[in-house]
Amino acid sequence: MKTTISEVKQFVGKEVTIGAWIANKRSSGKIAFLQLRDGTGFIQGVVVKADVSEEVFQSAKSITQESSLYVTGEVQEDARSPFGFELLVKDIKIIHDSVDFPITPKEHGIEFLMDNRHLWLRSRRQHAIMKIRNEIIRATYQFFNENGFVKVDPPILTGSAPEGTSELFHTKYFDEDAYLSQSGQLYMEAAAMALGKVFSFGPTFRAEKSKTRRHLIEFWMIEPEMAFYEFEDNLKVQEDYVSFIVQAVLENCKLELERLGRDTSKLEKIKAPFPRISYDEAIKFLHKKGFDDIEWGDDFGAPHETAIAESYDMPVFITHYPTSLKPFYMQPDPNREDVVLCADLIAPEGYGEIIGGSERIHNLELLKQRIDEHGLDTEAYKWYAELRQFGSVPHSGFGLGLERTVAWISGAEHVRESIPFPRLLNRLYP
Ligand code: 4AD
Ligand code: MG
Repeated sequence: MKTTISEVKQFVGKEVTIGAWIANKRSSGKIAFLQLRDGTGFIQGVVVKADVSEEVFQSAKSITQESSLYVTGEVQEDARSPFGFELLVKDIKIIHDSVDFPITPKEHGIEFLMDNRHLWLRSRRQHAIMKIRNEIIRATYQFFNENGFVKVDPPILTGSAPEGTSELFHTKYFDEDAYLSQSGQLYMEAAAMALGKVFSFGPTFRAEKSKTRRHLIEFWMIEPEMAFYEFEDNLKVQEDYVSFIVQAVLENCKLELERLGRDTSKLEKIKAPFPRISYDEAIKFLHKKGFDDIEWGDDFGAPHETAIAESYDMPVFITHYPTSLKPFYMQPDPNREDVVLCADLIAPEGYGEIIGGSERIHNLELLKQRIDEHGLDTEAYKWYAELRQFGSVPHSGFGLGLERTVAWISGAEHVRESIPFPRLLNRLYP
């Protein structure tokens, strides 16, 4: 019976064949332990000299790391392994001998691992992080589908710049200028006027010269947008959504979290509602904490965000930022023109901002004024302004950065591990 490691629990006491690679191996004169991986999981194969032919035992002893093989054996329960099963090997058919696999069980430097990202992905740790990333994506679709949202795909090649013009990837679009999308938001606003509640999931690009553990040049964003949703309604969706994905990972990625050594007690606490602090309060709080240099009107850096996040064991919303700090499309607070109806969601444990969102301006005149003030090309935003001309309604939305969320939930230090092939300031290879 040909099967996969993830399915072996159905075959306890039975003989199965699995296509696999050798992750690691150890052997003595009488027994060999093969750490097998097949993509779906990891299992130990035990080869007992007395139970197999001499040829099979010699293959098991001499097989090299990352060689590929078909392995046939009996599935046994194994209380000692976290996976719960092992394979009592009867036969081995080597498919391909791997010679000098560069990533050995010893420690390697990060640049070496990044140069070998195409191979590093095979490691247990990277496997676990990719499975968690996949679970977050799966749970995202489930959450939005169950809550009446329609998936809409905004374009990648665009003529507009929602988040400011300084970080755009420029390209030629035949005779015109185009940019790689830095956010699908503006298009999602058009979609919300057509479909009510929508969400997107796709790659976005920022030509940011930032070299931090939170910044990628290419990252994936989930961008919901909701017609008739005001500021408070927007926060409710965000806290419900983030709680949902954290609980989904806890439930469906137990082995992966254990393999990563993630402290799950911290994740178990993540349940809506989330605490909120206004920008004004945050500034006062930071002054109390000894950050004397920051003044009202300054943006927060990573140390500020971390200091704020440390006083909560939940993600925290920082709301009502100064208008001058935020993009042109944000709705001003009706009681106070100098702040906008926005919120950033800051993850616990120092992972920083995972969501940026706001209510959007729905008054045509105000929007046009903001487009002018920000020096944006009126022609490029003509269609966007027109959304306010034909039955304009209050609406809100947000963007969740997938890689920062994966890093937080996995407990990975740096976002470079939370995407298969990271694009970083100095890295386009592999
Ligand atoms: O705060 P940002 O720039 O917001 C927007 O783009 C809005 N248009 C979203 C919306 O309202 N539809 O980005 C949203 C999130 C951030 O909170 C962060 O998680 C992630 O995207 N992000 C990055 N992730 C990795 N590397 C970068 N360079 C990122 N820039 C933003
Ligand atoms: Mg932001």
